[in-house]
Amino acid sequence: MIVLRVFAGADKFLQIFIASFSAVLRSAFMSFPVDFLWGVATASMQVEGAIGEDGRGVSIWDHFTRWMPESFYEGNNADVACDHYHRYRDDVELMRQLSIKAYRFSISWPRVIPSGSGEVNKKGLDFYDRLVDALLAANIAPWVTLYHWDLPLELYYRGGWLNPDIPKYFEDYTRAVVARLSDRVVNWMTLNEPQCIVGLGLHQGEHAPFLKLPLRDCLRAAHHTLLAHGRAVKVLRTEAKMKANVGWAPVGVVFIPASDSPADIEAARKVMFSVNERNFWNNTWFSDPVVLGRYPEDGLKLFGAASPEYNAEEMALISQPMDFYGANIYSAQIIRAGKDGSPEKVPSPVGPALTMYHWKMTPPCLYWGPRFLFERYKLPVVITENGLAGCDWVARDGKVHDAHRIDYTARHLMELRRACADGVKVLGYFHWSFMDNFEWAQGYKLRFGLVHVDYATLKRTPKDSAYWYRDVILANGKNL
Ligand code: FCB
Repeated sequence: MIVLRVFAGADKFLQIFIASFSAVLRSAFMSFPVDFLWGVATASMQVEGAIGEDGRGVSIWDHFTRWMPESFYEGNNADVACDHYHRYRDDVELMRQLSIKAYRFSISWPRVIPSGSGEVNKKGLDFYDRLVDALLAANIAPWVTLYHWDLPLELYYRGGWLNPDIPKYFEDYTRAVVARLSDRVVNWMTLNEPQCIVGLGLHQGEHAPFLKLPLRDCLRAAHHTLLAHGRAVKVLRTEAKMKANVGWAPVGVVFIPASDSPADIEAARKVMFSVNERNFWNNTWFSDPVVLGRYPEDGLKLFGAASPEYNAEEMALISQPMDFYGANIYSAQIIRAGKDGSPEKVPSPVGPALTMYHWKMTPPCLYWGPRFLFERYKLPVVITENGLAGCDWVARDGKVHDAHRIDYTARHLMELRRACADGVKVLGYFHWSFMDNFEWAQGYKLRFGLVHVDYATLKRTPKDSAYWYRDVILANGKNL
């Protein structure tokens, strides 16, 4: 009897040993592609400051921080933000020291065309000119987002994203940017998170312009964002001086399976690609038109008469071929197959690991997110944002010890590496964010940066995670 027990125990031990040995072996052979793009991201409104300089027009965020400060954490505004507009040279130098390979930043529409349409402000473009030159001199690839939420106020007064002419205005704005920068910039993203432009800005009233419009109006505005995207892609294809590498950066709304069973995987995939709530938190309402050239059937059914009017010509314009699929992914919901196989949400464990934004830590979102998106849309994936708000301050030794950011990022990158090993084509990863910045309605409450910013002195202090990320980049992730 005792002998048998010992054997049974040994057997179990052997199983565990083999399982962990093969996991170690597997991860030793897993690697990121040799030319993997290691980047960091920011957005104009969140870092630039200098809102009244060199002829820049007013954006909706300037307007609402000024006239509705109670909607922002402690009445914070982005008038100065990180003062990147004046300190970009030092910021680029810091990126270079940290071995960053690519910088995703956005262009401020009101800096380039102060009233949204019409006159181009040469001085506004000069800034991006200088920024691009500084990046190229530091051997850092510029990745440009054309719209990261700073709508010119004048366009808001003309209906903003509800105005049927806004796609045309966006086309003209894109043309001005492309004319100036495309002799040096190759990588372009049209819109950042159209889900948030419409969902947070127009439907839920949580972001500028803080509207709570009916679903029908929001769906119409969403349609205009897609038309604007299509027009911008066309300009990039036909007018860029160097062959453009074009994508966009929607929120990847990710659902992950509770286990590796085919039934759970199928259930998660099904939810990830469905429209099942009358809101904007899904992938397919935005991405099916853009990549597949049609609105999803389930969405059309669910939204019914609230759906926008459109014709075949518009759908052709919206679905211009893209080179990559950008995805901003921070977290995910776990799904399992219920008794009859239909998807069920799995409640999170009691006392989940939470970031300072109260987003749940679910690292497999960087495995299943890119995998599902690649399977459906068949475009190489770029993780255009991933990161966390941390509890960061400068310690007595003058450093910022953000162990949580290192752990979060390591766990997510290991999942991304596993996706690469399983054949998902992932071109790069941009950490959100390079530095702490103006986190929209949350103001300066949340710190997302690899680099700490002291807003009183604007001093930058690379956090422990910044040096750790540098080492990951230098080892191309082999040290994870
Ligand atoms: C994303 C936004 C980005 C930043 C991060 C935390 O939704 O694109 O600007 O706010 O969240």
